[in-house]
Amino acid sequence: MAGINRQLRLKRNIKQGEEISLDLFDVVESEIPEPAEGQFVVKTAALGFSPAQRAYLMGAESRFHEPIAIGEVMRGRGVGEVIASRHPDFKVGEVVACSTGWQEYSLQSGDTSGLLVKTLQKVNNPQQPLHLHLGILGSSAFSAYFGFLKIGQPKAGETVVISSAAGGVGSIVAQIAKIKGCRVVGIAGGVEKCLWLKEFVGCDAVIDYKADSLDEKFKEYCPNGIDIYFDNVGGDTLDYALKNLALKGRVVVCGMISTEYHEPPLPGPRYYYNLIYKRARMEGFFVWDYHEEFPAAEQELIEWYQSGQLKSTEVVFNGLLSAPEALQSMFAGSACGIRVVDL
Ligand SMILES: NC(=O)c1ccc[n+]([C@@H]2O[C@H](COP(=O)([O-])OP(=O)(O)OC[C@H]3O[C@@H](n4cnc5c(N)ncnc54)[C@H](OP(=O)(O)O)[C@@H]3O)[C@@H](O)[C@H]2O)c1
Repeated sequence: MAGINRQLRLKRNIKQGEEISLDLFDVVESEIPEPAEGQFVVKTAALGFSPAQRAYLMGAESRFHEPIAIGEVMRGRGVGEVIASRHPDFKVGEVVACSTGWQEYSLQSGDTSGLLVKTLQKVNNPQQPLHLHLGILGSSAFSAYFGFLKIGQPKAGETVVISSAAGGVGSIVAQIAKIKGCRVVGIAGGVEKCLWLKEFVGCDAVIDYKADSLDEKFKEYCPNGIDIYFDNVGGDTLDYALKNLALKGRVVVCGMISTEYHEPPLPGPRYYYNLIYKRARMEGFFVWDYHEEFPAAEQELIEWYQSGQLKSTEVVFNGLLSAPEALQSMFAGSACGIRVVDL
């Protein structure tokens, strides 16, 4: 198709401790791809971010995620409209959330047979701005929704503790927990984030892990123990949450941003014996396993959003070239909510 497709292609791997910046990428102008039979082209409207994307840049040092090759377009999720199609199930004008990569146009096969390509999702009821479908109506929200409801199995009145509660997934877990009638204790780094959690997100209590003693605050805010601990960070926070679990408590393992990229790997939790004493359960989940239930979850999230029970938390960066900065901001802890880039 006539026209330019700007792309960010990996120039070199990231070094240990280095910040993610535009320097790591070549900005390449190629032609907008032409769909072959069974393919379609998506014009990227917005990009979403996940800490896992740092691992894609790490080359051979990446432990849990497949790295991308030098010269490859940076892998990432986006949302956009189908602008050309030779695929029977995807029509021009429809909106999809999928692995667009960091580029303005992407070729999609529509194949949903493998795990990674399962990330293709038709947006049945598009809301404006479309970046909502990477935010409170997209994969961060699905992680919060399925992790909290299916693995956490909340009951009204229970005490829920969330780490990185001011983050993308965490701030949605907090809102869903309030919708379900739970008492919510949010953990975040810094006074501003803690204030945001109380005033905007509606947490009942907050812990600034950079200033407070986690153990003391858990005892103060969760005197009967933690019924559900939704973990995004691992490390010490997980450890003290394990120590303070309630009988039959549940630990939902969503992520471990505080330790995941550490070389050499850090030792594991010390207080996991409490899983025995408290007859508690600790279980990980992978959001894409719930792919077939995304449309139903999306519908419920839209209803909560339209009724004002679920508030939008997107932090918007502008333009393709701001994608590295948006990703880096997840590790700098510099913003509340979900990062998106509008193209
Ligand atoms: N299981 C799944 O299927 C699934 C799906 C999506 C995401 N995840 C995982 O879920 C977690 C949350 O994802 P997200 O996209 O919402 O990210 P996020 O929580 O928004 O991540 C950014 C935040 O993490 C916190 N953080 C960064 N470095 C940290 C450190 N060393 N120690 C403690 N906190 C740190 C910072 O908040 P503070 O300033 O408050 O420290 C930062 O603002 C991630 O670990 C991600 O990998 C899992």
